[in-house]
Amino acid sequence: MSALLEVEDLTAGYGRVTVLHGLTMRAGIHGNVGLFGPNGHGKTTLLRTISGLLRPRSGRIRFDGQDIGGQSARAIMGRGLIHVPQGNRLFPDLSIADCLALGAYAPHARPHEAENREKVVRIFPKLAERWRQRVRTLSGGERQMVSIGTALMSHPRLLILDEPTLGLAPKIKDELCAAVMAISQGGVPLIVVEQDVEFLLELSQHLYLVNHGEVATEIKPGQTMDHGEIMSMYFGH
Ligand SMILES: Nc1ncnc2c1ncn2[C@@H]1O[C@H](COP(=O)(O)OP(=O)(O)OP(=O)(O)O)[C@@H](O)[C@H]1O
Ligand SMILES: [Mg+2]
Repeated sequence: MSALLEVEDLTAGYGRVTVLHGLTMRAGIHGNVGLFGPNGHGKTTLLRTISGLLRPRSGRIRFDGQDIGGQSARAIMGRGLIHVPQGNRLFPDLSIADCLALGAYAPHARPHEAENREKVVRIFPKLAERWRQRVRTLSGGERQMVSIGTALMSHPRLLILDEPTLGLAPKIKDELCAAVMAISQGGVPLIVVEQDVEFLLELSQHLYLVNHGEVATEIKPGQTMDHGEIMSMYFGH
C-alpha cells in the first residue's frame, strides 16, 4: 500500500537561507504522523511547503499518487490536503458561522457542508453556543477550535495541524487534545506538530524528529518508545 502523502528529498527555504535539506517522510498510511523537534529547525517550513504556501527548491511531493510539488496552495487544498497553520489566521470581524461557511467554499467541500457542520458541532459543542460571536471576542482556545473547525468544513482527506495547543491553558489544551483525538477516530488521517510529546505519542503511529531541516530519527509504526527515550533523542544524549 502506498502512502497518501510522500515527501522525498525535499529542499526548501527563504531567500538565501535553506531550511529543509533533503527531507523524506510519509503520511496517511498507518494512522497519524507526529512531527517534533527543536524550535526553528524547519517543522513549519515543511508543512508550508507541503501545502503549497512555499515553493519547493528540489525534491518531490506526491499526494494520492499525484505530483503536487510547486502547485498553488488553492489547488492543493482543492485535493483535500488541508493545513491549519501555526498561530491563528482568522479574520477578526467574521463570526464563527462565517468562518465555517468559508471553510466549505471549495467545490469538493460544498456537497458535504451540512454533514461537516454537524461534525464540527459534535466535536466542538462550544462553537454552537457562540455561533454569531465574532472571532475578535473569542479566547485563544476558542479561536483554535474555529481554525480546526474551518479546516474540517474543507472536507480534509489529510489534515495538517501545526502546534494546535501552543500557548493554551491546561484545561482548554486538554479539550483540544480530546477534539484532535476525536477527529482522528472519525477517520481523518493527521499530521501534527506538537511540543507535548506525551500527547504526540498517544495520537501518532509514526513519529519523525526534525532537526536542522532533516529527519534525524523516526519511530515507525509498531515500534514502542517511552517519553524518557523520546526526550533523550530530543536533547541528543
Ligand atoms: N518567512 C520567513 N523568512 C525567513 N526565514 C524564515 C521565515 N520563516 C521561518 N524562517 C526561518 O526558517 C527556520 C525554520 O523555521 P520554522 O518556522 O520552519 O521552524 P519550526 O521548526 O516550525 O520552529 P517552531 O518550533 O519555533 O515553530 C528558522 O531559522 C526561521 O528563522
Ligand atoms: Mg513551527
